[in-house]
Amino acid sequence: MAANGPRRELQRDNMELREAIDRRMSVRAFAPTPVADGLIKDMLTQASRSPSGGNVQPWRIHVVNGAATEQLVEAVHGKPAEESEYPIYPEKLWEPYRSNRFRVGEMMYETMGIQRDDKAARYAWFANNQKFFGAPAGLFCFIDRRMNHPQWSDLGMFLQTFMLLAIEAGLDTCPQESWSVYPKTIGNYFDVPDELMLFCGMAIGYRDPDHPVNSLRSERTPVEEFATFHR
Ligand SMILES: Cc1cc2nc3c(=O)[nH]c(=O)nc-3n(C[C@H](O)[C@H](O)[C@H](O)COP(=O)(O)O)c2cc1C
Repeated sequence: MAANGPRRELQRDNMELREAIDRRMSVRAFAPTPVADGLIKDMLTQASRSPSGGNVQPWRIHVVNGAATEQLVEAVHGKPAEESEYPIYPEKLWEPYRSNRFRVGEMMYETMGIQRDDKAARYAWFANNQKFFGAPAGLFCFIDRRMNHPQWSDLGMFLQTFMLLAIEAGLDTCPQESWSVYPKTIGNYFDVPDELMLFCGMAIGYRDPDHPVNSLRSERTPVEEFATFHR
């Protein structure tokens, strides 16, 4: 009996983690419900338990919330895109990655009935990125430009941990590389030191359950296609 106790406990915890992973999705329409600053601070603190090679902890974060979000969105509004400081995708993405990317885009516009040739509607929708999709809060993730690929992967671990903690707190998120095309505007806005480079932004808030875009359930490649077992 005693031997079974801790094991059952572990299994239960695993179930909760699976549920959080499953529930996390990129939410692209938010309710205006405010998010407490303390909640974000607590999630950042907990997310900093994420591993990083050599424990260098390369993430540098700027948070906007409430009026600060509105001010930032206003400051970026109407500005022409600058150049991202890193290539978001490799040039001429190849298969199967190209189709993966294409497919999720098509599925997303389909939820809203936006046709493939309706460039104006697609462009208008895309601009919502720079409004954090209506989320009352957001963050920007920077990294020292002298860091290498391994430290960039550390950022991913930190951000995913944060997004799962958000689920636990009843919140939703959307990670956003689309902010990376405003490196100067965002960098100057927060007066970040020159060595910091903008990786991405992230919308944080409570999902609008009624918006069709939030009905999107993105697909995944079956495990047999991306993992090889050697026995
Ligand atoms: C680093 C990163 C940047 C992303 N940037 C954007 C973005 O700028 N705009 C957007 O709508 N979605 C963005 N996404 C969301 C992806 O499209 C999404 O994660 C993917 O389609 C899988 O869907 P899911 O997150 O709902 O599971 C980003 C995701 C990641 C991890």
